[in-house]
Amino acid sequence: MSFAELWESLRPIGRDPVTGGYRRFSWTAADLSCRDWFSATAAERGFEVHADGNGNLWAWWETASTGGRAVVCGSHLDSVPDGGAFDGPLGVVSAFAAIDALRDRGFTPAHPVAVAAFTEEEGARFGVACLGSRLLTGAISPGAARGLCDADGVTLADAMTAAGADPARLGPDDELLRRIAAFIELHIEQGRLLADTDAVIGAADGIWPHGRWRFDFHGRADHAGTTALGDRRDAMMPFAATVLAAREAAARHRGLATVGKVVPEPGAVNAIPSMVRAWLDARAHDEGCLEELVAEIRAAADQAAADHGVTVTAACESFSPRVAFDPGLRARLSGVLARNMIRAPGVSTGAGHDAGVLAARVPTAMLFVRNPCGVSHAPAEHAELTDCETGVAALAAVVEEMAARA
Ligand code: HGY
Ligand code: MN
Ligand code: MN
Repeated sequence: MSFAELWESLRPIGRDPVTGGYRRFSWTAADLSCRDWFSATAAERGFEVHADGNGNLWAWWETASTGGRAVVCGSHLDSVPDGGAFDGPLGVVSAFAAIDALRDRGFTPAHPVAVAAFTEEEGARFGVACLGSRLLTGAISPGAARGLCDADGVTLADAMTAAGADPARLGPDDELLRRIAAFIELHIEQGRLLADTDAVIGAADGIWPHGRWRFDFHGRADHAGTTALGDRRDAMMPFAATVLAAREAAARHRGLATVGKVVPEPGAVNAIPSMVRAWLDARAHDEGCLEELVAEIRAAADQAAADHGVTVTAACESFSPRVAFDPGLRARLSGVLARNMIRAPGVSTGAGHDAGVLAARVPTAMLFVRNPCGVSHAPAEHAELTDCETGVAALAAVVEEMAARA
């Protein structure tokens, strides 16, 4: 099936008709529809499908003559709130399309080829990014994961149970990891580097270290119309100072700091906030720099809280160390792409990916497809159809080389 046909079959699922963005949060109805799409797409091709204990989906192209370890391609199907269509799904659809292209030209693999879709990559519902790949590789304990809560207080364990999955099966799966020779994640580029260099495809060098920190500012609720300014313990004030300090510190460290989610309580126009809970996303080119950046933001939060009679606590909710992708695999990809006349400059990214988490256990690599506007995590995210088709061709060439008889 062509890339365009496959893409259209997934495109309507979980799309908000008003914003045009996607709301594919793990274990919700939209996510379950995406999972059904994955299973049906695999079944149409005669591939065996299974969900591992962490809810990650796997579709296996195996024949009587395949053996040894598998070449795995894929990405994720979940989204941020009002995310774009491409972040995640492009890698999954391109993997199926690449296999279709290989089968159309009569290629028979010597090694199994699999398509994977990882659960809760964005951490949009339960807060921890790359949750499915972290669980698979043992980077988070199953007990901690089971207890993660969404905004309504629903635990991951309860959400999985309601969706018909068994949370008792969460946890590392060494046997599954041993079946993988390499994981290649194709992804839309989330910046303008390729557009500016006029290349359609990029090959990832590495991922910046990054993490998420939750700040809880505790003040005292009171009347907005009667409480003198000097008598207030307004939790919003140190929160606001912290946001500005984060921006200023990020600029000084040449890193990135974003406060994109904030929940004030009680959340009334005419009441002084008793509590402000806010999430900081911070990233930098090296871990020392990230550590300093976050330490400075925490110090600014402490100072501002003290100035306003507010208390503040900060806790790291997820952390991803710097990733350098497997040099041998990168060199192999570069060779294949060069032989296929596909120019693929190296790209270092501040965005996190399951390939970065899996890199701790299996050789991984990433291919990026040009995004002309550079926008991501928003409905405007875009890649041209012809560029997506070049991505499929690049992935097919890589899989053909890696799954061929030695
Ligand atoms: O947030 C990230 O870096 C990624 O897009 N999940
Ligand atoms: Mn993303
Ligand atoms: Mn992604």
